[in-house]
Amino acid sequence: MKGKLINSFSIKDKVIVITGGEGVLGGTLASLFAEEGAKIVILGIDDTRGSEIEKKISEGGGIIKFIKTNVLDKASVEDARDWIKTEWKSIDVLINAAGGNRPGATIGKDETIFDLNLDDFNKVIGLNLTGTVIPSMVFGEVMAESKRGAIVNFSSMAASRTLTRVVGYSAAKAAIDNFTRWMAVEMAKKFSDRIRVNAIAPGFLVTNQNRDLLLNKDGSLTERGGDIIRQTPFGRFGEAEEIAGTILWLCSDASQFVTGAVIPVDGGFSAYSGV
Ligand SMILES: NC(=O)c1ccc[n+]([C@@H]2O[C@H](COP(=O)([O-])OP(=O)(O)OC[C@H]3O[C@@H](n4cnc5c(N)ncnc54)[C@H](O)[C@@H]3O)[C@@H](O)[C@H]2O)c1
Repeated sequence: MKGKLINSFSIKDKVIVITGGEGVLGGTLASLFAEEGAKIVILGIDDTRGSEIEKKISEGGGIIKFIKTNVLDKASVEDARDWIKTEWKSIDVLINAAGGNRPGATIGKDETIFDLNLDDFNKVIGLNLTGTVIPSMVFGEVMAESKRGAIVNFSSMAASRTLTRVVGYSAAKAAIDNFTRWMAVEMAKKFSDRIRVNAIAPGFLVTNQNRDLLLNKDGSLTERGGDIIRQTPFGRFGEAEEIAGTILWLCSDASQFVTGAVIPVDGGFSAYSGV
């Protein structure tokens, strides 16, 4: 390949596993990547949404399977892995999109850190961090055996800059940045330079997890929503479709020398001092 542009952004026929694939971002990725010819497996706990997405994508001609799976239960993730290995033989990409926040792990408007609900704090750390570590162990082992694969994690702007209120979510996503680098080194040094582990750090998209923080019931911006827009040079929230291209690049051979990276996809939020 020396002297040639590595121009393969193709994900055609790749088996791509998306945890939280019944969610807003995971579901969008499932649908866009199925259109590119990838074979999609979505893993999640929401039966109804999972089956709806499976039906919609397969009716549109895509290849997709929903497997009800709890990312916090290793045996459940192993069952999903066994199905995929038996039916589709390989596992090329894991996208860890299961994650989110809980009200108790967020400091309320009139509260302080001393009001934090530790149970919710631990649940948010568990879902975002352990819920990424377990699938990375289970599917990463398949990649270690085949000596190839790509893992893409979901970080957040909250990992690197302090966003007020979301204390549990921020700690969990900061841990994702660290785990991404750690796992990248582990896989490269012990198994293969064809296994890559990266993350994207999305800026602000309006989804179920943050709608109430960003928008009022009438669709106007909350005070926090307005602060975020002012800190975003593009002056707007992102759309789910706008993160897909970066993830596609991280899944494809075009990024074959990229590992341990956390890529901001944020309309310039992380580049801007606000002045
Ligand atoms: N929306 C944003 O602005 C934004 C910004 C940065 C990062 N993220 C991250 O992107 C990822 C996807 O977010 P989203 O906005 O699509 O959220 P979402 O709530 O729509 O999707 C998350 C999905 O995870 C699933 N899930 C929850 N617990 C699970 C479990 N134990 N096992 C399996 N699945 C489980 C849920 O059923 C849901 O479908 C999350 O990690 C989120 O933190 C979102």
